[in-house]
Order: sequence, then structure tokens, then C-alpha cells
Amino acid sequence: MGRDKITVIGAGNVGGTAAQRLAEKDCYDVVLLDIIPGLPKGKALDLAQSAAICGYTGQLTGTTDYKDTADSSVVVITSGIPRKPGMSRDELLETNVKIVKSVVEQVVEHSPNAILVIVSNPLDAMTYVAHKVSGFPKERVLGMAGVLDSARFRASIAKELAVSVQEVHTMVLGGHGDSMVPLIGSTTVAGAPIRDLVSEERLNELVDGTRHGGAEIVKLLEKGSAFYAPSAAAVQMVEAIMKDRHSILPCATLCKGEYGIQDVFVGVPVKLGRRGAEQIVEIALTSDEQAALAKSTADVKELCHQIDGMLT
Ligand code: LAC
Repeated sequence: MGRDKITVIGAGNVGGTAAQRLAEKDCYDVVLLDIIPGLPKGKALDLAQSAAICGYTGQLTGTTDYKDTADSSVVVITSGIPRKPGMSRDELLETNVKIVKSVVEQVVEHSPNAILVIVSNPLDAMTYVAHKVSGFPKERVLGMAGVLDSARFRASIAKELAVSVQEVHTMVLGGHGDSMVPLIGSTTVAGAPIRDLVSEERLNELVDGTRHGGAEIVKLLEKGSAFYAPSAAAVQMVEAIMKDRHSILPCATLCKGEYGIQDVFVGVPVKLGRRGAEQIVEIALTSDEQAALAKSTADVKELCHQIDGMLT
């Protein structure tokens, strides 16, 4: 038996960096696919030539042919256009629905048992598209965003308090958009509640910074959007799945009554293991957090209604 194959669709900055991070785990064969022929081939070749220095030994394939993705264990989908400065993620909807639909159709044809990790924006809505188009059980369709948003929030708290980011524990739930929900009530630094350490006013500023963390990077880069942290977040999910870690990470998943959410893909804590989303973990929310999650879910639901019109 060979190594598990992980496919990354989309060889842009997020996809290319995800492929690099996966190769460096030295556990997988990695396939990078894009519709632009030179891009996945060039990046895969470059990564393969790094192997002698970095010491990894898995196969690296760059391709435009979905046949090369056959029997992937996990497929990470990063395809789609990124935001330009000043754009919201929701403005990408129409273009990215078409792209993600076409990608998912081809992925499932060759890897009917794969677990899908969606990274394309608007994130929660694209995860819904992937679920609908693939026909996969909900356990095998997940969206990456809560891990990224939580990492951004952790980074800002760590900087504020001048402590290691490892000491900061928090989760950001809800949709990957302006209404995302950082759980202040369960945010701790070395076990101490964040409200004992940071003023309410300053906390609001940090929350705001997290909400606009992606847009800040889009503005700074001028071209393209963030990719180091998004790719790291996607790879953390892949690792939790492939290594059957039972990690509890905030991911977009289909809620069936959990948190009072019915039939919407939105970010909640999910136990990840070899079967994919093994369980939605319900943690106690304050009434403010519960209300904010309901509002964020309503925003995602609105996008999904628009998608229903586009897919039929
Ligand atoms: C961001 C994009 C990936 O938040 O949504 O940076």
C-alpha cells in the first residue's frame, strides 16, 4: 500500500502553499491541479526539486487532468477568483459558484470516497455548493475558515498581551464574513478569562481586527488575498482527518439542529477524524454569542438561497 493521496485543486497562492505544507509533512503523495497548464506543473516540479534539500519523499504531481487525482483521500478545493481591494467575499459568489460546481463534479467522478475541504470564497456558501453537487454525506464535506479566523484572533491577543500564541485559546464560529462570531466568553490565556486581561473596549477593537483581517491583507497585497494562514489552516484540517486526531476545530459543516441551526453550512466546532466530521461539539454560548451566531447563519442562508437559483 502506498501513501495516501491528497489533491489540491487550484495552484494559486493558497493551493501552491498548501501543496508545499503537505509535501513537508512527508506523509502523503500530493497532486496539484489547475486549469492553467504551466502553473501546477511548474509548482510541482519546483516542490519536487526542493525534496532533496527539505528531506521529503512523497510523490509530487502537477497536472490539468483529473485522472491524476483518482482515489484521493482528501481533496482541498481552493479554486476561484480572490477578492480585489474593497470587495467583500460575497461579491465573488456568481463566478465562484460556477467554478466550484465544475471542479466538484470532476473531483467526485475520480474520487468518490474522498473527503472535501473547501477553501474557496464565499466560504460557507461554496461548502454548500460542494455538498449539493457532490451528493456526498455531510461528514465528507467541510469548509475551512474557523481555523483561520481563530488563528487571526489568537495572533492579535498574543500580540496585545505579549505572550506566546500557544497560550491563547479561542474559537471563532459563524460564517467566514463580517458577521463571524469570536467566542469572547470562552477565550482564555493560560486558563485565565480574556475579560480579566483586556478591557472591553480594546477587545472590541481586536474582534473588529479579526473580522477584517482578510480584507486588511487584500488591501496590503494589492493583488490577491492571504495565503500563508489560509493554507496552514486547511492543512491542519487535513492532518486532523488523515491522522485521525479527533481534534475539535471550528469548520463549516452542515448543522442539523445543533446550536439551533437547521440545514445550513456554517462554522461550528467539529471533531475531525478519519471519517471527516465525526461530531458537532456543542459548547455553551452566552446569549449574545448565540444571537450573533443566529445572525451570521442568516447571512449565509441568504447566499445559499441565491445559489439555489443559480444551480437549477
Ligand atoms: C481570508 C480569505 C482567504 O480571510 O477569505 O484571508
